[in-house]
Amino acid sequence: MKILDDEKDLLLDHEYDGIKELDNHMPVWWLWLFYFTIAFSVGYMMYYYVFDGPDQHELYEMEMAAAEEKYNLGEQPGPTESTDFTWAFLDDQERIEEGKELFIGTGNLCFTCHGNLGEGMVGPNLTDEYWIHGCSPQEVAQSIITGFPDKGMVAYGSGAALSNEKVQSLISYIASLQGTDPPNAKATDESRAQPCTIQ
Ligand code: HEC
Repeated sequence: MKILDDEKDLLLDHEYDGIKELDNHMPVWWLWLFYFTIAFSVGYMMYYYVFDGPDQHELYEMEMAAAEEKYNLGEQPGPTESTDFTWAFLDDQERIEEGKELFIGTGNLCFTCHGNLGEGMVGPNLTDEYWIHGCSPQEVAQSIITGFPDKGMVAYGSGAALSNEKVQSLISYIASLQGTDPPNAKATDESRAQPCTIQ
């Protein structure tokens, strides 16, 4: 095999099956990659072994804690808590608007069972003057906070806990629906619902 002149100097002293090896330099990109891995390993070692960076288990705990915070999973306001709060139907337009957002939002799903306008579907009509579980601010809040799991309504509609303030907005919106007489209103369940006027 013919070898280029300068390659002769590079030729290493061995040959296998007619394959000869040249003592070329490493490609520059390859060398940089190699240096980079060395530098990376130093950083890695410092972070995890010297400065005690979080391991997988700690990262898991941290992510779970962040999710708990984000989705409000920690302290669920239990049913009894509704008594430690002054419930009222507010006239404040902003709070009513906030309640509406919650009602028709995908977080708590009220509209899926009570209808977009509170006219009732699977769940009872919330716009008429008949209530199964009472219509005082306290009672309506309680209905939302505990739900009626045996009838299909879990706590807070979807199980996603709301602060008392948000429930306050929600009941204020529901109160504002009284007497709106929306189309396709669900008939009152005479056997269980009682006349009750929201004040
Ligand atoms: C999966 C369906 C479903 C969802 C979602 C749902 N509800 Fe209900 N809700 C019901 C059913 C069914 C009842 C009736 C329980 C009964 O028959 O005792 C009810 C009852 C109520 C009552 C009591 C009504 C009365 O006559 O006393 C209120 C208030 C209420 N829901 C509000 C809400 C709000 C606010 C949301 C959203 C946070 C919501 N619901 C989400 C199905 C649902």
